[in-house]
Amino acid sequence: MTSTALRLGDTAPDFEQESSIGKIRLYDYLGDSWGVLFSHPADFTPVCTTELGYTAIVSGEFAKRNVKVLAVSVDDAESHKEWINDINETQNTKVEFPILADADRKVSTLYDMIHPNASTTATVRSVFVIDPARKIRLTLTYPASTGRNFNEILRVIDSLQLTDSHSVATPVNWEDGDDVIIVPSLKDEDVIKQKFPKGYKAVKPYLRITPQPNK
Ligand code: BEZ
Repeated sequence: MTSTALRLGDTAPDFEQESSIGKIRLYDYLGDSWGVLFSHPADFTPVCTTELGYTAIVSGEFAKRNVKVLAVSVDDAESHKEWINDINETQNTKVEFPILADADRKVSTLYDMIHPNASTTATVRSVFVIDPARKIRLTLTYPASTGRNFNEILRVIDSLQLTDSHSVATPVNWEDGDDVIIVPSLKDEDVIKQKFPKGYKAVKPYLRITPQPNK
């Protein structure tokens, strides 16, 4: 199987693979939900233990946003199950999301998660946010030695879900509840008044700030 770099807007490729909870087909697993598919280098490694533990701790935050989480590593399902016990014990949580057992590297190759100049065997720390239309909406790649910030992944999902449903974009360091930016393509003042009844401040004609419309 060849790997091609997946880009924003591409359709997330479907697959079937073993996991810590049995066989999973991506599209069936996601259903109508958003998805976060993320890889980590290997089981029984320290940084990954903290990442998966934290993901379990904030699983309610993902569920609130209609997001299903799916981890990937190149170890087998038995190894994943043993490691999940360690994660639960050391991170004081309960991992309930599946970890794909990608021993044959089917998913890692499909999603280009092995970067041979970094490691020929282990997956890098990739993240793919997939929307309910199966489009890739965010990609992140972190090196093995740097744990990711899962609060940032939640923050981007907040931005994607908000900007999908309102004519806004989110500024630097935006967090849910902060002011947002009216998209520059929206020019009709009547439409702006109707969409943003709380008004807006035009710092520049292209930089129009308004309270978050769904709050
Ligand atoms: C890890 O925990 O995955 C890890 C730690 C140090 C260097 C590389 C990976």
